[in-house]
Amino acid sequence: MENTITLKQFLVQSQREGQDQIDTDLIELLDNIMSACKKIADGVKHGALYGVLGSAGSENVQGETQKKLDVMSNEVFIAATQWGGQLAGMASEEEEDVYSIPAQYPRGKYLMYFDPLDGSSNIDVNITVGSIFSITRCPEGVSDPKLADYLIPGTEQVCAGFCLYGPSTMLVMTTGNGVNGFTLDPGTGEFVLTHLNMTIPEDTKEFAINMSNQRFWEAPVQRYVDECLAGKTGPRDKDFNMRWVASMVAEVYRILTRGGIFMYPKDNKDPSKAGKLRLMYEANPMSFIVEQAGGMSSTGRERIMEIQPEAIHQRVPVILGSKNEVERVVSYHKD
Ligand code: AHG
Ligand code: MN
Ligand code: MN
Repeated sequence: MENTITLKQFLVQSQREGQDQIDTDLIELLDNIMSACKKIADGVKHGALYGVLGSAGSENVQGETQKKLDVMSNEVFIAATQWGGQLAGMASEEEEDVYSIPAQYPRGKYLMYFDPLDGSSNIDVNITVGSIFSITRCPEGVSDPKLADYLIPGTEQVCAGFCLYGPSTMLVMTTGNGVNGFTLDPGTGEFVLTHLNMTIPEDTKEFAINMSNQRFWEAPVQRYVDECLAGKTGPRDKDFNMRWVASMVAEVYRILTRGGIFMYPKDNKDPSKAGKLRLMYEANPMSFIVEQAGGMSSTGRERIMEIQPEAIHQRVPVILGSKNEVERVVSYHKD
């Protein structure tokens, strides 16, 4: 037991070793995020025993029906982080507008964007869900950030992470110096370093996409998936496997563990939407993590983290994972 390193210890050590991105405020903020994740993990684990399953009977700004756990997780994230004095403001999937820190709390230098519960269609069927967060610096001199102050490209992220509520609860994060994974020890309540320097293999034989949308995809994605399906009999000369959990956190974690490619590409199902996933609290943090683990992330046409955001709930196509496969899909978009 004495050899274990907790997430807090890991961050303090990294700060001492001179990692510029990590300062005391960030460590405190991450400590509060950890508390939020533990509370959500507890809710998820108890499920029906806590009466947290099912619909909340409301809709979020994206017109999606909110689950009770979506609403609760959002409240938990806000309550756990707003008081600490590290945040100038936050933006959540479940909040239409950006969230101002209440006047009774001091304001800090960071902005946080979060998806309190990712994969919520999986809650009631007892399949892995998660939380995703992204942290940037609030623009210089701004203490009461307005919407425009939040529209910062993903390349400016100071930290990104997700917590996976699966068979074990895991927090995976980056501060721009590699990706590390921490497992929640249910006995001590500590996140313990278990996955040092996670890296994504460059090649893969596994792809993840919601095949039911096939008829709506653009030609480059049609071609890529057709070639995967053709396996040994096609131009790829190898058989592929397919997975679709419908929780991005679970798909990204799998890719960090054994490689793979994940796609929620542009489609013409609803021309008003460029993709399904949201740039600021899904695509950007996952792209930062994937790139830091040696993978690649693109819309098919541009690097996701370089997109200049235009709205908090903006949607983007997402193609991420093993470098050589993502490069291939990008090259098909150029053809
Ligand atoms: P959320 O539950 O936060 O709305 O996100 C769900 C997302 C993502 O996690 C997943 O990859 C995708 O939606 C699944 O979409 P389909 O149900 O269309 O497959
Ligand atoms: Mn989500
Ligand atoms: Mn969500």
